[in-house]
Amino acid sequence: MSDQIHIVEMGPRDGLQNEKTPVSVEARIAFVEALVAAGLNTVEVGAFVSPKAIPQMASSEQVLRGVSHVKDAEFHVLVPNEKGYDAARAAGAKVVSVFAAASEGFSRANINCSIAESIERFKPVLARAKADGVKVRGYVSCVLGCPFDGEIKPKAVADLAVTLWDLGCYEISLGDTIGVGTPVKAKEVLRAVGAELPVGNLAMHFHDTYGQALANLYAGMEEGVRVIDSAAGGLGGCPYAPGATGNVATEDVVYMLEGMGVKTGIDMDRLLATTNEVAGLLGRPPVSRVASALNAKRKRLVKS
Ligand code: HMG
Ligand code: MG
Repeated sequence: MSDQIHIVEMGPRDGLQNEKTPVSVEARIAFVEALVAAGLNTVEVGAFVSPKAIPQMASSEQVLRGVSHVKDAEFHVLVPNEKGYDAARAAGAKVVSVFAAASEGFSRANINCSIAESIERFKPVLARAKADGVKVRGYVSCVLGCPFDGEIKPKAVADLAVTLWDLGCYEISLGDTIGVGTPVKAKEVLRAVGAELPVGNLAMHFHDTYGQALANLYAGMEEGVRVIDSAAGGLGGCPYAPGATGNVATEDVVYMLEGMGVKTGIDMDRLLATTNEVAGLLGRPPVSRVASALNAKRKRLVKS
């Protein structure tokens, strides 16, 4: 349990994609730069998807270009098809993420096609990425439940994860898109996927709608998973997952890990300042428990 954990920061993509308040390209770039300065050196910075579907991610090419000067960091972007891949490459992407769903209902709502059709769209992306030396991460959404189809069988998740792996994805991120999972179910699905694929190449991408994400992450760590997706401030969610809230907050994850003796290399003060800055832009306080607690503690210290 004390092995190094790798955090993949989602705030600028999964976080901002569901926020109503528009955030400028300059502020998105500053957000990414601040996250890297806080020690989060793998950041998903945008999405090359239809701007009609997700207007918040428009101009992701400007964000990706704008952060290209940042050294010692890896930037990820979502691509749903070859059109997205073309645009991502033109902007200099070195790592792209394709995203499939374990449920037909969510696949249709999110990317307007069946699961099988989505795989057909990904095949040329993965083939070209291999030829271009671009790394591809693969998401499986709705691994612990779907807002349209309800319960999802772990085998369906494992089968799709294997398909993405066989196509060439280097890591499979398992998404509890609507944050309904609980620890025993999280273990079940991670065991099912871990029976087919190396556990070191799995990531946990848990939204925190029902407040279970930290417990589920702990359960997943007990199964040997060492990669965690999280978003500063617990921002966001998916516009096509009705009622879902943001990813587990990065500061909540860092607090838990450091408390367990796992060194994250992340500077909590800088992370908190970044979270507060973005919350200010969005006009509301951060939802994360750790950010709220640390902000309240600071206020008390300033008063005394
Ligand atoms: P479609 O309507 O089936 O695609 O959308 P189409 O090929 O028929 O094209 C329709 C229009 O979209 C055309 O433009 C295309 O040019 C354009 P028009 O002629 O109408 O002006 N288009 C594009 N534009 C920019 N970039 C592209 C692109 N492709 C087509 N790559 C499509 C299919 C996938 C494009 C659409 O459904 C879409 O963009 N969906 C957005 C999905 C999304 O971003 N969802 C949120 C991220 S996923 C998530 O949050 C889950 C995750 O976090 C994990 C988890 O939590 O589980 C990853
Ligand atoms: Mg997500």
